[in-house]
This record gives sequence, C-alpha cells and structure tokens, in this order.
Amino acid sequence: MDKRRIVIFDTTLRDGEQSPGASLTVNEKLIIAKQLARLGVDVIEAGFPIASEGDFEAVRLIAKNVKGPIICGLARASDADIDRCWEAVKYAEKPRIHTFIATSKVHREEKLKKSKDDVIKLAVNAVRRAKRYCDDVEFSPEDAARTSLDYMCDVVREVIKAGATTINIPDTVGYSEPGEFGDRIKYLFEKVPEAKNIVVSVHCHNDLGNAVANSLAAVINGATQVEGCINGIGERAGNASIEEVVMNLVTRKDFFNAVTGINTREIYKTSRLVSNLTGIDVQRNKAIVGVNAFAHEAGIHQHGVLSDRRTYEIMTMEDVGWMGENIVIGKHSGKHAITALLEDEGYKLDKDQINQITNKVKELADKQKTIERDDVLAIAIDVTHQLSEKEQRIKLEEFAVTTGSGMMPTASVKLIVDGEVKIGAGVGDGPIDAVSSAIWNIVGPSVRLVEYNLKAITGGTDALADVSIKLADKDNNIFSARAVNEDVIKASVLGIIKGINKALNFEKRENPQR
Ligand code: KIV
Ligand code: ZN
Repeated sequence: MDKRRIVIFDTTLRDGEQSPGASLTVNEKLIIAKQLARLGVDVIEAGFPIASEGDFEAVRLIAKNVKGPIICGLARASDADIDRCWEAVKYAEKPRIHTFIATSKVHREEKLKKSKDDVIKLAVNAVRRAKRYCDDVEFSPEDAARTSLDYMCDVVREVIKAGATTINIPDTVGYSEPGEFGDRIKYLFEKVPEAKNIVVSVHCHNDLGNAVANSLAAVINGATQVEGCINGIGERAGNASIEEVVMNLVTRKDFFNAVTGINTREIYKTSRLVSNLTGIDVQRNKAIVGVNAFAHEAGIHQHGVLSDRRTYEIMTMEDVGWMGENIVIGKHSGKHAITALLEDEGYKLDKDQINQITNKVKELADKQKTIERDDVLAIAIDVTHQLSEKEQRIKLEEFAVTTGSGMMPTASVKLIVDGEVKIGAGVGDGPIDAVSSAIWNIVGPSVRLVEYNLKAITGGTDALADVSIKLADKDNNIFSARAVNEDVIKASVLGIIKGINKALNFEKRENPQR
C-alpha cells in the first residue's frame, strides 16, 4: 500500500507566539521562518495580520522572503480580517488564508451570541471572501472538539461547498481523549465523504497532555495535515509538538505507513533556535529534544548501549541532528570551534556577533578554569538578544549596593533615560531587591516585575549568572528578557533594564502617535 503523505503545518509563529512571555521581534520571526523552511515544514502560519502592526509586518516580511513552504495568515470570519490577511500574505510564492469561527455551543451562545445558522453563514461568507483572493483557503470550526458531531459536519459540508481546500478540526481547549478524537475524524469522513477530496487537518492543544496522542489518533483515522509548534509551545499548555509528531511517524513508520517532508536532522537546531529566541526553555526530559533524551544514566543501560545502541535507543541523536557535547571549548578555542558549536545550537550569527561572543568567551576563560558548552550558549544568548542602539531608551550608567550582616541592603542607580541622567535609590530584602527598587523609583509603575529566575550556568563561585525575568505592563502584555554576567547583581540590573526597554518599545510601536 502507498504511504500517505502527511502535511506538516507549523504555527510556532502564530499560536506558539501566543505562549505567555514569548514575544518575538519581526526579525526574530523571519529567522525562525527561514529555519522552518530548512526543516521542511509544508506550511508556516506566520501570524495573525489584523492583530497588530507588528504581526502584519512579520507576516508580510516572511511572505516576501521565505521560499518553499506555503505562507499562511490567520483571519477571523470577517471581511476586515480577511482583507488585512491577504494584504500580508499576497507576496508569498504560495499564499494561504486561514479563517475560523467558533462552533461549540458555549462559544456560539456566550461569546458570539449567534445561532447555528448565523455561524454557518458567517463561515461560508468568510471562505467565499478569501477565495476571491486566493485558491488555498483553510477553514477551522474553533472548539470543534466540543461541538456536536452533526453540527460540526454541517459546517464542514457548507464550507467545502464554498471552496475551502483544507478543513482543520481544532481541539482548542485540549479537552479530547485520543480514542474519542480519532472517532470524531472517522465520523467526519463517514458523514461528509467529500472531505476525502480535500485536506483534513487537526490542531490539538495540550491542556490534558494529549495533544500529540490526539493528533496521531486523527492521522490513524484519515487526517492528512497536522498542526503544531516547535517544542510544543503555544497558548496555555501549548500545542502538539511538531518534533514529537514527526518522530512518531518516522520511528513507527511500520505502524503509521505515512511520510512527511521533514528533514529530521534539522529538528534539534530548530528546537534550540526557537527556545533561544522565545526565551522558553526546553525541559530536560522533553521527548526528542530535551538534553536528557539520549542520555543513559543507569549502569545496566550504559552497558547495553555500549554493546548495541538498539538495546535502549529507538532513534539516535544523529537522527534529530544533535551532535552531542563533543566540541570542547577552552581558552585557546577560536572562532571556528565557537561558531561550529553555536551553529549546532541553531544560531545564525553575523561576523560582528561571532567576534563579540569569541571575545567574551576569552575574557571568561581568563577568569574561569574551564569553559563549558552552557557558558558559551549563555554568552551567545546575551549577545544575540542585545537591543539596537535606538531600542535602548534606558541605559545603565552605574550602580552601587551596600549590604552586610544586620543591615538593610541599600542601592543607588544612575540611568540615562531618553538621553537624560536620572538617579534613584532603594532598599530591599536583599541586594537584588534593593537595586530593582532603585530602578523602579526612576522608571515609575508603568511596568512591574512578575517573574525573576537566576541560574548559575556552570559550577563554582566564579560561575556566570544567567538572569531571566518577565515584566508586565498595564495591559498585562508580558515581556521577557535575559542577561548574563559574572556579577549576579549586574546581570539582574541588565536583565530588568532590557525588559523595561522592550516594554517601552512595544508601547511606542502600538501607539505610534506618541
Ligand atoms: O486553537 C484553535 O482553535 C486555534 C484556531 C484559530 C485554529 O488556534
Ligand atoms: Zn490553537
């Protein structure tokens, strides 16, 4: 029997970017999109063009510059959304408009306040409008997994008639169980046989941890497109993880009898790139791309793997493109070793960035006996996440902290804010608390710190400190920032200032008249 071709639809840049704290710049989105093209995804959902100027710009830039995959934009079922979406995707070699409207009872009655018939009319109008612009139109009945089966089939039948070329069945709130979701897809093909002539897709969220299992259950029952995100990021608990779906299909081809266009050797790089740019770490024991995924700790396992890797390994790290920890970085390592290591980690660096990273690694090597892979990665994150001169509306001039046993830590900070020198003082429970209250005393309450994490990169008292923070503005937009320094207080100050600058730049972009 011929193998079925499963279309891989990546929504890292749209649903993935909806992960709390994962805001990407337009340029970062373009870098990720180019890597997704190298990975071999069939469709890139590049954003939701009507959502903001930034989203529109990112989709347009990706449509103009990324060749290979279909470039798709999301639009609600309204003329304005669809028109705006087309304005952004029309530059692509292969554009797609993805339009959606909710169909479940709770969404229809409580959110949309529309009858079943009204929703069908809106869905059909949306597909027809999108078809005026492009042949490739995807439609999603949002919250399909909680929509009555027969009504879901009615909606699908009508939008196919209106010209939809892909129908996507989302489990928007991650509510389904695998057997049940598979049965939903089977039922759809029985009741709407014309669905066999188009692409039937699934889009599963991970609220109960079932996103990948539900997607695979759908494939077993006839779905031919799977949507998901790299590292499984996305709204709330995330979306189906693309790398897990793909490696299931590849490793168990005997079971699924299906193929994808993915070059699995690009998986690890893509995962690291997305993690580095979004600031969302990959958990150590994550399937496929976690650092423990190919590590063997127990003696009996190590013995088995040394005799024959197949005893405890169902796939190899080479299959997913991970070269392992075999590059040693020392005081005398040059640009080539550092570049090779960082390329392996998914970085695309320019000359200037390579020079900066190499110099910082050498500086650190003068102070620290050994340089580990994680030190180099932390420095690279720091260098590649620098804001441009224009984006640095606040700059650190100097700071001082006094602390000691029995005394309340106090701090003073001198900042340049939009070209003006400002000095603030603060006290706190510890030196970092004191210095951050000195910063807030200058900046005011427009942003607040919602998360602070400190990690010593490698062991020892001379280890690099890696600080990642999240700030929220008045509208609860979240901004993440990260900074690395040998001095833990300085790393904290730099991280907080970077986060505040991101929030200020966002405010400026959203309100250009100001
Ligand atoms: O989860 C969802 O329902 C979505 C749709 C827009 C496809 O993201
Ligand atoms: Zn979603």
